[in-house]
Amino acid sequence: MAGVATKLAKPILSKTACQKGQQVAQLSTLREISTKQKTLLTVGGTLIGGGAALCLALDQSVKASGLDAHPPVYSWSHNGIFDSFDHASIRRGYEVYKQVCSACHSMKYLAYRNLVGVSHTENEAKAEAESVMVLDGPNEDGEMFQRPGKLSDYFPRPYPNDEAARAANNGALPPDLSYITSARHGGENYIFALLTGYCDPPAGIQLRDGLYYNPYFVGGAIGMAQALYNELIEYSDGTPATASQLAKDVSVFLKWASEPEHDTRKKMALKVIMMFSMVASVIYYLKRHKFALVKSRKFQFKPKESHQ
Ligand code: HEC
Repeated sequence: MAGVATKLAKPILSKTACQKGQQVAQLSTLREISTKQKTLLTVGGTLIGGGAALCLALDQSVKASGLDAHPPVYSWSHNGIFDSFDHASIRRGYEVYKQVCSACHSMKYLAYRNLVGVSHTENEAKAEAESVMVLDGPNEDGEMFQRPGKLSDYFPRPYPNDEAARAANNGALPPDLSYITSARHGGENYIFALLTGYCDPPAGIQLRDGLYYNPYFVGGAIGMAQALYNELIEYSDGTPATASQLAKDVSVFLKWASEPEHDTRKKMALKVIMMFSMVASVIYYLKRHKFALVKSRKFQFKPKESHQ
């Protein structure tokens, strides 16, 4: 029985397949291209593809030959797609920045008001701002004057200009840290690895005066001495201030400074995903409903009767 069915079905199937083939051939744009042109196209495509692969391979090999170590990816508490920052850590990181890094690094795009509701209450942030003196003026006598900071003031800079910064640091410029985790490959992983990665230079590597060995810094020789040591500062919340704890907290603080919208962004993503998964089922039903007619339509091809 099954044999008969295939026998009957075969000629019909092959006929429709043949018709289909003709139709496709009529629609195809390749039909008008000669064999010579096709060969040329194939050779051209292979050459371009091969060239691109070669460039990529060369690029990768150059990267692999660098002396800098790639930072590992640490398990930050904000890594997951729905994880927010550890705000207690941001607060401790601010303490580290203020007491250690701010001696050399500016964060000129951060104002005291940015801390409100993130790491400090409004009154605490006001007190932080008031602890620094800010140049203001001119007053009615035309003189510039110093006043205690306000919430709207930006973090003070350690040096008046880049030249002064270089002069104080053996010619190396301490970069502004406002957006540093976005400005370096590896982001906060790189900052943490850099701060905790100082070690003796390997045999055969001589460093000039004022340079320190750090395998995570491109080239290995960095103009910044090791900044963090155990018990360097005391945390106001009593957390034991080991060097790695300090490095971790300041990395989280710098990550927040670079991406202050981080928490809102992830919260928004959560809402969007929830909304879209609800809407998706409605859209799927509507699609099936509207397409039901289109999909069950049947076309028939009837050749004209010949008049002979
Ligand atoms: C004594 C001054 C000084 C202190 C304190 C200091 N730095 Fe630096 N830092 C520098 C200098 C100088 C450079 C530039 C080094 C170079 O280009 O060779 C630098 C560079 C950097 C860089 C950029 C590295 C790169 O990839 O270009 C980062 C990130 C950094 N410091 C973070 C910190 C953090 C975080 C702290 C606080 C824990 C800190 N620094 C404390 C002087 C300092």
